[in-house]
Amino acid sequence: MDRFHISGPTPLVGRVCASGAKNAALPALAASLLTDEPVTLYRVPRVRDLRTMRRLLDYLGVGSEEREAAEPPESPKPPESPESRPETALVLQRARPSSSSDAPYELVKTMRASVLVLGPLLARFGFARVSLPGGCAIGVRPIDQHLKGLAALGADVRLAGGYVETRASRLAGARFRFDLPTVTGTENLLLAACLARGTTVLENCAREPEVADLARLLNAMGARISGAGGDTVVVDGVDGLGGAAHRVIPDRIEGGTYLIGAAITGGDVLLEQAVAADLAPLLDKLAEVGVEIEVSAAGIRARARGGDGSLRARDVATAPHPGFPTDLQAQYMALMTRATGTSTIRETVFENRFQHAPELARMGARVHVDGGSARVDGPTELTGAAVMATDLRASACLVLAGVAAAGTTVVDRIYHLDRGYEGMELKLQGLGAHVARMAESMAT
Ligand code: EPZ
Repeated sequence: MDRFHISGPTPLVGRVCASGAKNAALPALAASLLTDEPVTLYRVPRVRDLRTMRRLLDYLGVGSEEREAAEPPESPKPPESPESRPETALVLQRARPSSSSDAPYELVKTMRASVLVLGPLLARFGFARVSLPGGCAIGVRPIDQHLKGLAALGADVRLAGGYVETRASRLAGARFRFDLPTVTGTENLLLAACLARGTTVLENCAREPEVADLARLLNAMGARISGAGGDTVVVDGVDGLGGAAHRVIPDRIEGGTYLIGAAITGGDVLLEQAVAADLAPLLDKLAEVGVEIEVSAAGIRARARGGDGSLRARDVATAPHPGFPTDLQAQYMALMTRATGTSTIRETVFENRFQHAPELARMGARVHVDGGSARVDGPTELTGAAVMATDLRASACLVLAGVAAAGTTVVDRIYHLDRGYEGMELKLQGLGAHVARMAESMAT
């Protein structure tokens, strides 16, 4: 198990390029199950969760191959930067007739997003058997809304032996209202409704940019989806889908992590290739806190050169998009330890997403957790310590705190970070940080 060794404090200064969005690439890969023609994706991040999805698709008969990118569709190539790599394309194509519509526990247990194969398998082959994802560090995370939605489209849904089995000779368009906005739930229903007979109207949908990006890909494949990104989406079913080329949107959560990094370290970072509108909830909050935010054609710049005491403590409550993203809550908590005053952070999306708080306390932070709320008192001079990552975003929080802290911080269980951050230590080194990845054997 790798660890990060970080010595600080170091202001993060320079430019960094956002990678493609993990949470947009995952459903995009699942969309390849809907056709026998090649689906070519650009800007797919090289992170562990995408490798897991590729393994699952391979198991389901869809091969994937990385190729030098000839000419990616529409938007320009990313600028050269220290950590950038040549543009590649991930080409997904059914390699053999569908031998299985079965997503086994062994693959699903490592990544909840595997549930995204349920909708396309059922819609395309009339049957899908997918292992239930099981528990997760940040919350119970049921998939009842996915199943209710598929049942509304006429699927026969049964739970047996830890698996969900769904059958439908052909799904039928219907009106369905989610009880609450769910990102992968909305994506699963979009993937399924594309091939349903007739029109589906989905209400109370998730409005995350990743949902709209999936709809863009599906429409390029020949689907007829309108309203994605809003809370009501209409899908006119079609009889079949073709291939397409699509560039995955930049990762707003990864990008937001580096902007918070600039703020917490008193640095100056230009984030390239990011979409400011997707990051608006964070940019507004950072401006409130006293961080200078500048959006231009070059990118999004965050500067916090005001020195100690220039950051103001501000409350935040997470919420579905366009609310403040829960995936930036942990990183924001690290920032609030450096701000002057008391801030309250309310986590309203997941019921157990404060596991980074006791680790920050090991670095001297004053955080008091009470149920779904955390009170942070600042400013605190963070000091380096050995800390443990517990989930993907908690690990990003601890890495940022380590760069801002005086002394050496060792972040253990970095495998969490590798699930969703492409080359984080390289990107941080490119911004001046002293971060080294150490394999466990090297650490002792
Ligand atoms: C997506 O998860 C993201 N993952 C998560 O990112 C993100 O935290 C989350 O959306 C919220 O923004 C991917 O896109 C792969 P939800 P998802 O369904 O779809 C409840 C990261 O760090 N719910 O929108 O699983 C659920 O328990 C990850 O990259 C039901 O009750 O989240 C939660 O409380 C972590 N029943 C709330 O809804 C359901 O059927 C929102 O969950 C579905 C969800």
